Amino acid sequence: MIVVDSIEGVRQLVRTYRNQDQTVAFVPTMGNLHRGHVALIKKAKKYNGPVVVSLFVNPLQFAENEDFSTYPRTLERDRAVLEEQDVDLLFLPEQRVMYPRGLQHQTKVEVPDLGSILEGVTRPHFFQGVTTVVNRLFNIVQADIAIFGKKDYQQWVVIRRMVEDLAMPVEVVGVNTVREQDGLALSSRNSYLTADQRRVAPALYRTLQGVADSLRRGEANYAQLEEHACADLSDSGLRPDYISIRHRRDLMMPDKNETEYVVLGAVYLGQTRLIDNVEVSSRV
Ligand code: PAF
Repeated sequence: MIVVDSIEGVRQLVRTYRNQDQTVAFVPTMGNLHRGHVALIKKAKKYNGPVVVSLFVNPLQFAENEDFSTYPRTLERDRAVLEEQDVDLLFLPEQRVMYPRGLQHQTKVEVPDLGSILEGVTRPHFFQGVTTVVNRLFNIVQADIAIFGKKDYQQWVVIRRMVEDLAMPVEVVGVNTVREQDGLALSSRNSYLTADQRRVAPALYRTLQGVADSLRRGEANYAQLEEHACADLSDSGLRPDYISIRHRRDLMMPDKNETEYVVLGAVYLGQTRLIDNVEVSSRV
C-alpha cells in the first residue's frame, strides 16, 4: 500500500491508474476502522481496479461541543487493516493540506433542504462539513466510484444530491450496515458506551425493526408509529432524539400510498448519540 499525504501525490498515482484504463474506487473515512469500513473496502475491490482510501478526521463536521478532540484515532491499527485488505493507496492528509486557508476561510458546499432536516436539526453544522470535505476529496482523488455506508443514511442521500446538483463525474454507491450479533450497528462511537449502555443500545435497531414490521403490515398512521417507537425507546432506557418514517430516495415525508420507506432513528445514551435506520419495502 502506498501512503501519500499530498494532493499532487494522489493525483500522480491516480493519473497512472487512469492511463491504464482502470476503474478507481474510493472509500473516504475518518479512521478507527471496523468491520463496517472493511465491508466498504470489499465493495470497492469488486470493481477490479485500484482502491483508494482517505483517512482524515474532518474538523468542519464537528460542532464546538462535539467530540472532535476525543474522536478515536487509531492510525497504526488502521494502516494494518488497510494493508490486510490490500488497499492500493492511502491518502492521509494533514489539516493544512485539506484546509490551507484555515477552517473559517474555506469555501463551503451546502446541500439545501436535505441537509437541514433530521440530523441537520440537531447538528446544523454537520452536513455542510461533510459535503465540503467530500467535495474536496472527490476533486483530489477523481475516482470513478465512491463508496459510503448506509448506516449514515442521510449522509449518503445528501452526498448523492450534491453529486447530482454539481454534475460531479463520480458514481456514489451505498453499502448495507454491518451489525453486531445483537443488532447494534457498528460505529466508532460505540466505543464511548459504558457496559450498561452497551447492553441497552440494541433497543434502537429493535425499535426500528418494529416500525418496519408495522409498515409492512400496511399501517399508515406514521405519526402514531413514530410516537409509540419513541415511547418504547424511553422504556428501554434510551433518550430518543427522533424516529422518523421517510421516503427512501429523498427523505421527504411519505404519503399514504408510499411503498419505499426508510425508518431513521437517533438516540442518546448518556453523552453518546447513536443513529441507525432500516429500509422497508411494503410493495405487494
Ligand atoms: O462517514 C464518515 O466517516 C465521514 O462523514 C466522511 C464521509 C469520511 C467525511 O468526513
